[in-house]
Amino acid sequence: MLKQSGLGIAITGSGSATPAAVVDNHRLATLVETSDEWITTRTGIKSRRLATPEESLSAIATSAAKNAIAMAGITPADLDLIILATSTSDDLFGSACKIQAELGASRAVAFDLTAACSGFVFGLVTAAQFIRTGVYQNVLLIGADILSRWVDWSDRRTCVLFGDGAGAVVLQANESDRLLGFEIRSDGTQNNCLNLAYQGQSKELIDGVSIAQGTYQPITMNGKEVYRFAVQKVPEVIEKALFRANLTVEEVDWLLLHQANQRILDAVANRLKIPTHKVISNMAHYGNTSAASIPIALDEAVRQGKIQPGDIIATSGFGAGLTWGAAIFQWAR
Ligand code: ACO
Repeated sequence: MLKQSGLGIAITGSGSATPAAVVDNHRLATLVETSDEWITTRTGIKSRRLATPEESLSAIATSAAKNAIAMAGITPADLDLIILATSTSDDLFGSACKIQAELGASRAVAFDLTAACSGFVFGLVTAAQFIRTGVYQNVLLIGADILSRWVDWSDRRTCVLFGDGAGAVVLQANESDRLLGFEIRSDGTQNNCLNLAYQGQSKELIDGVSIAQGTYQPITMNGKEVYRFAVQKVPEVIEKALFRANLTVEEVDWLLLHQANQRILDAVANRLKIPTHKVISNMAHYGNTSAASIPIALDEAVRQGKIQPGDIIATSGFGAGLTWGAAIFQWAR
């Protein structure tokens, strides 16, 4: 099962960090016309963490990264590459370099990667290419988002879904390859299902030359379409990644999906015939933290001792773009 190429990959550390402020459904019901009962039955979410104005994306991402680096038993100086998967960086030019500086990872090259809620899986696959080609040995991958900055807090259809947080993993070159299979996909024809779009006002700069200046508009989502997309595409892409890994569904120890909605998790598990006890779910406490949701859930399951060395994990991210992807890996520690 494991490829012995000498240019393999192993995830050797995980970490997470979430803001301290907890907002449960009851408190949200004081802001918009909703109820704990509606949110719980439709989504499985009970509360979420929200970043205060003092908490930057780079700060929570750095905390998560430090935990992952410590678990991996390396130092920031050992890092060759830092990838920050996010849609909500502090700076439109990217926040990865700020994290590099805060960690003191002076040797590492750092850049942001945007693939919305698929960002962690896309980042994992991207990081793997650098290791498999022998270019880098130690890579830090962070998934972090502060979507509370971009949610319309008067829109009950979307504001109840999201939360803020960061998760990270360290990937290292390894004798045997623990990334067993993957598949990543995009479909821009469905782009209008989920957007956080820039809207500029036309402004004539000089005679005959106009530019657009404005800001990003809050998240808009066609919930039903996104639900349909997820429950159809996620099982397909996991099956494809399992095929590449030469594994069967029965050999999967843990199903670790992007924590968007409990109903999506249940439907995907049901389609794949994966029993509930193998499904990792923590969205009740955090809501949908976009690119952060998979590494936060991974880190919690590892630290709770649920995920054990040798376990096979099928993970899948899906979201805006539309983008989706799956990776099958073996926990190595
Ligand atoms: N509280 C109370 N009522 C609400 C709320 C709320 N928070 N939100 C919507 N409603 C009402 C609607 O107004 C509507 O009322 P109406 O029938 O009187 O018009 C009714 O509830 C049903 O609304 P729908 O939008 O049809 O609700 P639906 O059953 O589709 O559930 C949900 C909405 C939970 C968003 C669902 O579509 C879903 O799970 N979609 C998946 C999308 C998702 O998970 N997105 C996360 C971000 S994307 C990602 O990470 C992949």
